[in-house]
Amino acid sequence: MTSAASTAASTRIALRGDLLDFSANPAWGDVDSSAVRFRADHWLLVEGGRIAGVQADTPDASWERHDHRGRLILPGFIDTHVHSPQLDVIASYGTELLDWLNNYTFPAERRYADPAQAERGAALFLDALLAHGTTAAVVFPTVHKVSADALFAAAQQRGMRLIAGKVLMDRHAPDGLRDDVAQAERDCIDLIDRWHGTDRLAYAVTVRFAPTSTPAQLAMAGALCAADASLYMQTHVAENRAEVEWVRELFPEARSYLDVYARAGLLHARSVLAHGIWLDADDRAALRDSGAQLAHSPSSNLFLGSGLFDWRAAEASSAAVSMASDVGGGTSLSMQRTLADAYKIQALAGQRLTAWKGLYTATRGAARALGLDAEIGSLDTGRLADVCVWDWAAGPVAQARMEVARGLHERVFAWMTLSDERNLVEAYVAGRATQKST
Ligand code: GUN
Ligand code: ZN
Repeated sequence: MTSAASTAASTRIALRGDLLDFSANPAWGDVDSSAVRFRADHWLLVEGGRIAGVQADTPDASWERHDHRGRLILPGFIDTHVHSPQLDVIASYGTELLDWLNNYTFPAERRYADPAQAERGAALFLDALLAHGTTAAVVFPTVHKVSADALFAAAQQRGMRLIAGKVLMDRHAPDGLRDDVAQAERDCIDLIDRWHGTDRLAYAVTVRFAPTSTPAQLAMAGALCAADASLYMQTHVAENRAEVEWVRELFPEARSYLDVYARAGLLHARSVLAHGIWLDADDRAALRDSGAQLAHSPSSNLFLGSGLFDWRAAEASSAAVSMASDVGGGTSLSMQRTLADAYKIQALAGQRLTAWKGLYTATRGAARALGLDAEIGSLDTGRLADVCVWDWAAGPVAQARMEVARGLHERVFAWMTLSDERNLVEAYVAGRATQKST
């Protein structure tokens, strides 16, 4: 049986399909990983918005049954670094990071001072995330308090897990995009009071990147983190060579770009640092010791010509790595497209990203790095039912490829590489259908 209406979180629903999730982090290159849980043609039981179990037998009629036989069911994707106002600049031609910010991104972000634009943009962005199978995200809005308020309100309406915060920048940004330390601190405190820990929302102290904050603002951000260990922190680090050089000039006392953040008290277990391409071994050790994570953003790194992330080195030093679209530097909100780009970057380094490691990183791995694995990232009993139903193939090319795929990894790898939002059948947030209802 299928339902036309979106499913209330209080009902009992059962989704039939090929269930795929992970019990642990699959090892590099291991295509037969014991961390993979693939349960072909099973039922996922969801009660009160949470996963209640998995079974092979058809559940009784007290469950609202959604028969997705022959489709793939995964935990919803978690995008650990993405910019909500940058849908407006996605696919902008011709620049590396610093010119891209000045020519495209900063002008677009200025529009978010307008509450109507902030509200419209937040709704468009979150609906787009869900339409790509991303049910949780770590998000940069803009410097304007209203843009953070609008984003949190829109996520709350949708029942989504969202981590975000007003962007801090008090220098090296154009008029209309700068705050100051005192006002920024007041805005952060207000937003934390209103949103941090409300429903599924959490606040991230959001330093855009070291060049756009004065040392005084970095210190204020560090003090906020020190005052409440449950706050997240998000920023960019070591993305582009000209940016790294600029940071060296601005902060001559710091050992490295990452060290600028460490000295300000911004490196901790809830820190999410995008990129981390131009790091050294000491930086990686500092990441490991702090428990901070790198949000690897492969599509953005290729599009902006930033560089090739050394994932194996990060993992060898036990630094946590999650997966991010970084739209609008990245060119798609699709986490499958993001993973396909990640595979290609590793291939250039002579390494192969298995489908298992890629999909783990975009689900349970991200949840774990964010300290949210008791809530999301897997199909374990008790987790909130943020899950997506996908077609194995969209279109005749993928269909033909699937038909000749031998073995599970080959099939799932082809899916990861060829699929995108066209394959999405339904995205459930806490057991509530958000998309098409089949
Ligand atoms: N560094 C500082 N701001 C940004 C941004 O908006 N996107 C990317 N990719 N890098 C940044
Ligand atoms: Zn970014």
